[in-house]
Amino acid sequence: SFSETEDLDQEVQELLSSLPKGKGWFGADLCQCQGFWCQTNFLRNVICSQRFFQSHDQDIILASFPKSGTTWLKALIFSIVNRSRYTSSNTPLLTSSPHKLVSFLELDLFDKKELPIDLISTTRTPSTSPRLFATHIPYSSLPESIKKSNCRIVYICRNPFDVVVSWFHFLTQHKHAEKLDEEHFESFFKGEVAGGPFWDHVLGFWKESLERPHKVSFLMYDDMKEDIVTHLKRLAEFIGYPFSTEEETQGVIREIATLCSLKSLKDLEVNKSGNYLPDHANNSFFRKGKVGEGVNYLSSSTKQRLENVMQEKLSGSGLTF
Ligand code: A3P
Repeated sequence: SFSETEDLDQEVQELLSSLPKGKGWFGADLCQCQGFWCQTNFLRNVICSQRFFQSHDQDIILASFPKSGTTWLKALIFSIVNRSRYTSSNTPLLTSSPHKLVSFLELDLFDKKELPIDLISTTRTPSTSPRLFATHIPYSSLPESIKKSNCRIVYICRNPFDVVVSWFHFLTQHKHAEKLDEEHFESFFKGEVAGGPFWDHVLGFWKESLERPHKVSFLMYDDMKEDIVTHLKRLAEFIGYPFSTEEETQGVIREIATLCSLKSLKDLEVNKSGNYLPDHANNSFFRKGKVGEGVNYLSSSTKQRLENVMQEKLSGSGLTF
């Protein structure tokens, strides 16, 4: 109800005044909340989703650090779970941004003054397809109901050097004044960026994927680029929609991979025009999709130093890039 969110707004204001503040790239206001750097204007939505979101066993949560391939994952999972309803000639992906089809909890769904009734209800309304949600919230700060229900979490991860490049271009797409330099990599590796530290974000989901492999699947963007078919098969199995042998021979997996490829999505009118969020044009989510681009921006000594930082941060985890 309204009064609940009004009380919450007040509470968030009080919380905010007590939190350490920081500045992200281009002066973005950040606050350190529950161990991560949260973009201040989304703090309320994060708290709101933590407090009210009711996850159900059939839900699928798409989690990621920004610029790690979220848009791709949305298109892929949407296509997998809806393949009995749509083909690549009539899928809603042809006319809607993947971000419209799979919304973010903290960016759009809990951004309204009123709580979204269907997302806070504890009773599951019968439906044939699962609900798909995306989030950039770190594992440790996810709504409890996501951790407790039997819903699945699919995490997509990307090598941090490429995330830096991708993010920089995303933020500067309409402003060409700034140049990407080593400083951007340094601050990213230090951790004071929206959603950061990156290391804590990836390790939170990585550890959970090792401890509860039926609950959390950890995908690597770079590996998916190399062999999408194998990853699509595994992904479909994980979320409970395995491809049959017949589908495989009919080329269904290939078809989904092709439909969701960067080139195919990027060329769609809907993704060339329009604005998903007021400050983000749909086309800003589709750029080059290259693997290994990031290190080209660094001198060999900086590259070596940052690789050492990375190794130290990830040491003992088994996760490597
Ligand atoms: P680049 O900026 O390196 O090109 P996110 O979706 O998490 O915001 O990540 C955006 C990055 O994913 C961008 O990387 C974008 O080009 C890439 N991307 C978007 N759609 C893709 C797709 N269908 N396949 C592969 N990469 C994709």
